[in-house]
Amino acid sequence: MGSLWIVLRDVINNGLGSVCRIAAVSSSILARSAPVSLPTAADLSTRLGRLELANPILVASGTFGYAREMERVVDLSKLGGVVPKTITVEPRMGNVPWRTVETTAGMLNSIGLDNDGLESFLTHHLPYLRAMPTKVIVSIAGRTEQEFVDMASRLGDCEGIDALELNVSCPNVSGGVDFGTDAAMCRQLIAGVRGACELPILAKLTPNVTSIATMAKAATDGGADAISLINTLLGMAVDWRRRQPMLGNVFGGLSGPAIKPVALRCVCQAAQAVDTPIVGIGGIGTIDDVMEFLVAGASAVQIGTANYYDPQVSENLVDALPAALGTAGVQRVADLVGTLDTTRKTNQTACKA
Ligand SMILES: Cc1cc2nc3c(=O)[nH]c(=O)nc-3n(C[C@H](O)[C@H](O)[C@H](O)COP(=O)(O)O)c2cc1C
Repeated sequence: MGSLWIVLRDVINNGLGSVCRIAAVSSSILARSAPVSLPTAADLSTRLGRLELANPILVASGTFGYAREMERVVDLSKLGGVVPKTITVEPRMGNVPWRTVETTAGMLNSIGLDNDGLESFLTHHLPYLRAMPTKVIVSIAGRTEQEFVDMASRLGDCEGIDALELNVSCPNVSGGVDFGTDAAMCRQLIAGVRGACELPILAKLTPNVTSIATMAKAATDGGADAISLINTLLGMAVDWRRRQPMLGNVFGGLSGPAIKPVALRCVCQAAQAVDTPIVGIGGIGTIDDVMEFLVAGASAVQIGTANYYDPQVSENLVDALPAALGTAGVQRVADLVGTLDTTRKTNQTACKA
């Protein structure tokens, strides 16, 4: 991952617009694979409450820019949907560098919600996004409940938005996780947004809580159509020689393969606690990862960090899904969701010994 990391660091620290430069330096990335014809028998469609998707493969907020940056690299029409970078009312510069660090099995970031702000999103990004041949789920974050409600109300009046994802789980901004760690605040926030806008609502929760089931119930009670799990895990990296933290913000969010077991556990526990559809996120990069999340209870998945080392990973996962469904002995995604046998296995012999 070393040389890829150099490119990735450039992208993160110098802006996601430079994603296209990745393609320029990597001919293998630009070498598009031949279109794969899907077996007609496979039904990839899935439903997140009021939101229907052609397939369950989405790209995660913050790892795909505003989607335009990726159009020359990824066939966007193949994706179930995109979640652009979280927007806030005002533009934000984000945190001081370094804002990313590679770790043993993933990455730490403390971007700090660097984004163009609501007005720029509406005038500059949304016209492009609404013409895209896939579903658009706009991610928003507010400092207060009123900010969330006001943004949702504005966006709810716009054409071309299929759903909102409420980012109540950003670990890199002051107060960013408050709504995602306090069940009463979370329920009230979602209820407020639900009352202000008719779009389907996904609540993106943080794993940095004692009980993910409690938070999933709060999001459900508030009226969320779906629950996105998980955002990054709070972590840090240390340069002991300089006695300095590696990140300018000291702490950051851990993502990538390292967090997949935590994400799977959260999806499984939430699925057992609520009937609300779940979107699995965390370390997903292979078709086996996708299948594990679907079986554990996710109705769809989002691909995050994996986009950085293979921007085409999402469309390739869509191609791989029909065969994997065949291997699982089902024809529809819906027939796989939540089919995990969680009966506790006990070893009587070991107990007796
Ligand atoms: C560089 C970077 C920026 C991110 N920015 C956002 C963001 O703006 N909004 C958000 O909801 N999640 C953000 N995330 C979290 C991802 O959407 C995702 O929840 C997380 O990375 C776990 O998935 P992964 O392991 O597949 O990356 C960001 C993640 C990374 C790595």
